[in-house]
Amino acid sequence: MLADFLPTSASSASSACLPRIAVVATGGTIAGALTGTTAAAPAAVSLTAHYQAGILEIEDLLEALPVLASVAHIEAEQSVQIDSKDMTLAYWSQLVYRVNALLTRAEIDGVVITHGTDTLEETAFLLHLGVKSSKPVVLTAAMRPATALSADGPLNLFNAVTVAAHQAAIGQGVLVVLNNQIHCARDVTKTSTYAVDAFRSPEVGALGWVQDGRVEFQRAPQRRHTCASELEAPLEAWPLVEIVMNYAGASTVLVDALMAAGVRGIVAAGTGNGSLGAPLQQALAQAVRRGVAVVRASRVGAGHVMRNGVVPDDELGFVSAGTLNPYKARVLLMLALSGDQPAPTSRLQSIFDTY
Ligand code: SIN
Repeated sequence: MLADFLPTSASSASSACLPRIAVVATGGTIAGALTGTTAAAPAAVSLTAHYQAGILEIEDLLEALPVLASVAHIEAEQSVQIDSKDMTLAYWSQLVYRVNALLTRAEIDGVVITHGTDTLEETAFLLHLGVKSSKPVVLTAAMRPATALSADGPLNLFNAVTVAAHQAAIGQGVLVVLNNQIHCARDVTKTSTYAVDAFRSPEVGALGWVQDGRVEFQRAPQRRHTCASELEAPLEAWPLVEIVMNYAGASTVLVDALMAAGVRGIVAAGTGNGSLGAPLQQALAQAVRRGVAVVRASRVGAGHVMRNGVVPDDELGFVSAGTLNPYKARVLLMLALSGDQPAPTSRLQSIFDTY
């Protein structure tokens, strides 16, 4: 049995003093399964790519991982069963509420959330800002479905529970554990459509690692999060915030449509250092004059967007996303626009400089 080979801390701890970890399952490839082969996808080529996400229940995943009993007492719940491309704002509200409720229970030491990889970084960042507890919260996922050859889900789930059960994870904010690495929810992003090492934290790297029951942190998150966060996820009525991108020949069609739809905020995924083609920049400046919050991020995937660098943010009323990618900048902007306080550019910029 695998437990026999785990280090002492994981294998011989008396079960009575093991931490209690709540596992909240939401679907994704980690719960994915091959649902039948077709002429277009015969079994021989269906080893990792042809499957449906969100098929197996959390009980099935846990049953296949009896070694978890050597690390923690598990209390599992199937919250939703979706492909994370279909994540909704209503469910985000529910999830923040549920995780906060679980963590207020004295006997719960941490929470693990199984999630699809596609929007994991957004949910993780939302929880990083919206969970008000220093207890560990760890998201995990898989790049290969549970029925694949060399499925990565079981080890990722084992490692996620190991991290959530570890003292060193307390106060580190929301963590993302895949492929033996521990990432900060603010920094991590999906960088590959297929590789098992898809999750990376560009520029800053992982916070630490986990292997065979051992956990080591090499650095700590620098920005404000969880208990220190003053931001609240709305229970309902999220502000409409959308993302537009700059690219060769980008027109104003999308910004015009968003304005007509009554958008509250726009994140511009600019080129390079958040630069915007002239028509798009003018349309966004006009949006600011009409009371819409505009945040400049970059589509590049690494680096930061320098305020007043290539774009006169002070003059046009734009906010710089700094090192946040456009998807995370959208999460932060939605939370910033949800509060009671008015959101002038200076206040929004201070929020983006803080979180
Ligand atoms: C999903 O995001 O739910 C599907 C893709 C994945 O989990 O890798």
